[in-house]
Amino acid sequence: AAPIAIVAAMHEELSALLAQMPDEQRVRIAGRDFWVGHLHGQPVVAVLSRIGKVAAAVTATMLLERFAVGAIVFTGVAGGLAPGVNVGDVVVATQLLQHDLDASPIFPKYEVPLLGLSRFTADAAISDALAGVVEVTLRDPVALVGQEAVDEFGLQSPKVHRGLLVSGDRFVSTAAESEALRLSLPDALAVEMEGAAVAQVCHDYGVPFAAMRTISDRADDEAHGDFARFVAEVASRYSLALVNAWLAG
Ligand code: ADE
Repeated sequence: AAPIAIVAAMHEELSALLAQMPDEQRVRIAGRDFWVGHLHGQPVVAVLSRIGKVAAAVTATMLLERFAVGAIVFTGVAGGLAPGVNVGDVVVATQLLQHDLDASPIFPKYEVPLLGLSRFTADAAISDALAGVVEVTLRDPVALVGQEAVDEFGLQSPKVHRGLLVSGDRFVSTAAESEALRLSLPDALAVEMEGAAVAQVCHDYGVPFAAMRTISDRADDEAHGDFARFVAEVASRYSLALVNAWLAG
């Protein structure tokens, strides 16, 4: 079977999973390490894309061309946009859009020129499976991240959300900017910097794509500090538990 790609932008988002992966083969291309191996008997390729849409698109292209992966799943953190999408919640994307793409008036705002499309659809089967696994895993936040982190980050009752995930080459770190995003894209649940770029590459290749993102901050004036603490202390525990539960199932 074709391997499944597990991708995160930063080491802190995937470190626990990489530490657990038997180091069968590590291939270095274009400054990225591709961990080629197995998890729960399934062939996987795990890689850190680096941050931003270009870095993510290049990584996705390499996964498809050099490793012939059969699906790409992106994991990591995101800033919450919609009301009620709080730190410690998980968003499983149904659709992805590039919020910083605007070739108007030549093409409608957000539309990918010549593709006639602004929203990419995540693979339904993989996303359904991920959402199910997230739902079960979040029922026991203490088992997931430990009591100390539950208290520190207020993770008493984390929730899973499904809907629009937006991506752009901006770390959204002011209340004014996140409010502007809420106004122009009222159904956006969360914002990050890679997902929609990978979704576009997967669309071009006809390969299934899915994304699940843990909320590290509210994309507001406190985003920078909240993001840094969350990524340093708990982000990789979410990826470890969720990817393991998904592949083991
Ligand atoms: N990833 C996590 N938090 C983010 C934010 N506030 N903006 C963009 N990407 C993020």
